[in-house]
Amino acid sequence: AFPQRVKVVEVGPRDGLQNEKSVVPTPVKIRLIDMLSETGLPVIEATSFVSPRWVPQVSIDVGWQQCAVRSTWLINLSLSPFQMADHAEVMQGINKLPGVSYPVLTPNLKGFQAAVAAGAKEVSIFGAASELFTKKNINCSIEESLERFSEVMNAARAASIPVRGYVSCVLGCPYEGKISAAKVAEVSKKMYSMGCYEISLGDTIGIGTPGSMKEMLAAVMKEVPVGALAVHCHDTYGQALANILVALQMGVSVVDASVAGLGGCPYAQGASGNVATEDLVYMLNGLGIHTGVDLQKLMDTGTFICNALNRRTNSKVSQAACRL
Ligand code: HMG
Ligand code: MG
Repeated sequence: AFPQRVKVVEVGPRDGLQNEKSVVPTPVKIRLIDMLSETGLPVIEATSFVSPRWVPQVSIDVGWQQCAVRSTWLINLSLSPFQMADHAEVMQGINKLPGVSYPVLTPNLKGFQAAVAAGAKEVSIFGAASELFTKKNINCSIEESLERFSEVMNAARAASIPVRGYVSCVLGCPYEGKISAAKVAEVSKKMYSMGCYEISLGDTIGIGTPGSMKEMLAAVMKEVPVGALAVHCHDTYGQALANILVALQMGVSVVDASVAGLGGCPYAQGASGNVATEDLVYMLNGLGIHTGVDLQKLMDTGTFICNALNRRTNSKVSQAACRL
């Protein structure tokens, strides 16, 4: 049975924009978030407090490399490590509507403190079920990442700040290839036990299928209550909506998405970002599942950001010419 309502977590301003090659002007980011706030979305991930000095290992270096999944373009996840340098201005510039939360990514205590100083009321920590990805993304082992996260958890508890936990590479890793469902369950359990109120399971490279999603979720649901799980699907292989549908059938009721499908998966040629929020809401509307999101306002927001970035929308619903 499907859930009656789904909480849509908008990640476009962070996951989408972090992949834009040229730095997006701060007023555009603020306007984007303000427009999203008006659509009825309950959660809008606003920015991230990662290291601006941190130069990713293979940053803008693009090339053919033999990776465990297949021969593919490999680029570090943080294509533009400076894209989020205006995080404090964004947090202070947006119009925070009551009832909407604006979480931000914080990889460590330093990021957490900066986020709180900028007015963040909720944060997210981000780990992965892959050792190599963890190393490339946050420069440590899984074990070390959990130690850092527990520092953030302690500080967050003291400040009564809720923490969301991401687990990346749940259906495959650009460096390690297949990731076992047992490993995903293990890392998810650890982050949930630490006190994360929700675990967002990231198909970072969008490689999963309904089959692998089902297997992975079944394993994770043995360790973490389904009410505390979210899915975060990238659409690289065109499987995102199908994967989300399977997750809904299994009882998941929190889904991450990005307006206009912003973002490009940095790991595969011709790749796309997260599932488009417009397409997710269209599907949920069709299933009679309540989201509280106004699809027309969402599409207008998609048009705004695509014009500002001079790019085409990745939302099929927005591309569709036939309107009933
Ligand atoms: P590190 O180099 O090991 O960190 O990076 P460090 O502690 O050794 O510090 C190095 C320098 O950075 C120092 O400066 C620190 O002060 C500074 P220096 O002394 O050299 O002048 N620093 C910071 N500055 C500002 N804010 C901070 C911070 N921390 C250290 N928070 C670190 C480790 C985790 C910091 C780095 O690797 C990092 O920032 N990584 C983030 C990469 C990133 O943004 N990835 C994208 C988000 S994850 C994602 O997209 C996946 C997701 O969407 C889910 C999915 O799809 O699967 C969530
Ligand atoms: Mg992501």
